[in-house]
Amino acid sequence: MRGIVCDMDKLVNICNKYNIILIEDCAHTMNAKWNNKYVGTYGLISCFSTQSNKHIDSGEGGLLITNDDIIATKTILYSGSYKFYDKHIVKPNNDLFEKYFQYIPNLSCRMDNIRAKIIRKELKIINEKCSHWRKLYDIIDENLIETHTLKKIKQNKKYQFIGSYYLFYLINMEYDKIQQITSDLNLQWYGNNKLEGTISKYNDFKFLKLKQTLPKTDEILSKLIVLHIPYNYTEEICLNLVNHINKNSI
Ligand SMILES: Cc1ncc(COP(=O)(O)O)c(C=O)c1O
Repeated sequence: MRGIVCDMDKLVNICNKYNIILIEDCAHTMNAKWNNKYVGTYGLISCFSTQSNKHIDSGEGGLLITNDDIIATKTILYSGSYKFYDKHIVKPNNDLFEKYFQYIPNLSCRMDNIRAKIIRKELKIINEKCSHWRKLYDIIDENLIETHTLKKIKQNKKYQFIGSYYLFYLINMEYDKIQQITSDLNLQWYGNNKLEGTISKYNDFKFLKLKQTLPKTDEILSKLIVLHIPYNYTEEICLNLVNHINKNSI
């Protein structure tokens, strides 16, 4: 979530133990690694977004990766390849396409060439972009002061993260005060009762008709603040923001 992953070793063990298929949502973790292995290479399928707030920015768009030939075949057919599937440079054997062709609906969600071109260009500079984010993240982390109302989040040592978001907790603080600080400084807050921006939690998806509540998750989210670090931010902007947060959390 917002660039933070759980303990991937534990997650994979749980999935193996209970025969659960792991699908990774890597919207905010492209190019990050867990234990020197890319996040997105742990699951059967991994989904990446290339929307503007993400590590590769093609405006909108995204992609999935898999090593499974049947899923890859079906994905290409779902995306709407018609009988042009052979034009894919990397793809499973044609026999699989013949097998599934008439059984998979064409959803026409192909990636257009212009977007693909942008993504390919962005891919070449992704390491550079990620180093920039990490530099800004480290500056924020070094300068943000822990107080009785502000608690930093330590990243797991096994996680080689990018840092395009900085997450921290505001604790021992009235609801209205947190709302004011986050609104003044344009921060996102998972505890906000008002749905704003791109923030959403498990129980906001009413269409799921969930009956279960997750009190421990709710407790964590109620304090969780998210500082988005857009790629065009500079060290100066980050320091300025941190100074404002420090002043408000004293
Ligand atoms: C964890 C996560 N998954 C998926 C998405 C959706 O990405 P998109 O808007 O490209 O569908 C987002 C968007 O921010 C996200 O944060």
